[in-house]
Amino acid sequence: MRTSEIRTRWLDYFAANGHEIRPSVSLVSPEPSILFTVAGMVPFIPYILGTQQPPWPRAASVQKCIRTNDIDNVGRTTRHGTFFQMSGNFSFGDYFKEGAIDYAWELLTSGVDRGGYGLDGERLWMTIWEEDEVSWNHLTRTIGVPERRVQKLPFAEISWSTGQPGPAGSCCEIHYDRGPDYGPDGGPAVDTRGDRFLEIWNLVFDEFIRGEGRGHDFELVGKLERTAIDTGAGLERLAFIMQDKPNMYEIDEVYPVIAAAETMSGRSYGRGAAGGRRLGGRRAYARGRRPHPLRPHAHLRRRAPRQRRARLRPAPPHPPRRALHAPAGRGGRRHADPADRLQGRHEGLLPRTGGAVARDQRGRLRRGGRLPAHPGRRHHHPGHRGGRR
Ligand code: SER
Repeated sequence: MRTSEIRTRWLDYFAANGHEIRPSVSLVSPEPSILFTVAGMVPFIPYILGTQQPPWPRAASVQKCIRTNDIDNVGRTTRHGTFFQMSGNFSFGDYFKEGAIDYAWELLTSGVDRGGYGLDGERLWMTIWEEDEVSWNHLTRTIGVPERRVQKLPFAEISWSTGQPGPAGSCCEIHYDRGPDYGPDGGPAVDTRGDRFLEIWNLVFDEFIRGEGRGHDFELVGKLERTAIDTGAGLERLAFIMQDKPNMYEIDEVYPVIAAAETMSGRSYGRGAAGGRRLGGRRAYARGRRPHPLRPHAHLRRRAPRQRRARLRPAPPHPPRRALHAPAGRGGRRHADPADRLQGRHEGLLPRTGGAVARDQRGRLRRGGRLPAHPGRRHHHPGHRGGRR
């Protein structure tokens, strides 16, 4: 399926489900807290925060993005680009976790003849916040995804914000298993390179407000008055799965750039002096699995699960990481509403009064009249994400 058709199907599906279709905005962010449009949600931040009344309860778009914090990955992985398009659907106080999961599952797995993408549901894996029982129950009981394909992670590894004060929430990431030629078994929590279990769609359940901070080091300063949904599916990632290409650079909409570079440079793509420079490909992982003459078993060893430097302050408390496939209710304390628990645990840092979110004269977020201490100017990490993306 061509990328243009993947885009059209996205917009048609969400229009048919009551979403206002919005155009892509400028790559220079309309939101003053960030320089570039790093995600599809950027033009909707005031509606998610509640600082502006949304003209529609739900919207969808395919947004052109520059994600500055991904730049170091470009050329090293199969899936990162300096520029990409993010297909998104958004709810402003309308549907929440279950609705977002239902839409994603239906669009991905419905047959091509019914307007869907026709992906095999058996190849889809999810990562969710370990405290998110709503998503766990909905995925495993209502939709019927086997428990082993829903993996639980601590909040710091499965949450999203722009990297600046604004909305934040835990995620449900949807990954597509490209098969054993591309990486180890064990799901996205084990496949550290992310080439086998390719993240194709991130559903963000916005319910918190984050404050100032650098990288993963920031405070949650409150809860949103109304929850919101912000989802993002990499259009080029969907395309490289559906076009059966080894990386996002070889899809129909990106490869012409490489072809033009070949013409201009007189050099051929994929035929470098080292014997081939195409990223991805089945052979890339297979090469890594060949026994090393001096370390005959090294290729059989699994990499350790991802260790991230995430350091939320206050860190949402979580029990020691459970066995990945442990069903909900085992191995950790459970709470009726994880968000309430988070708030309760850190209540000293949260605004005591309710009220709409607003910006003060210096543009900082405030709600209910109390702000956390301003730590001064910080380095930006736009598109902060606990996950690897
Ligand atoms: N904002 C989230 C992301 O960029 C989902 O759209 O991953």
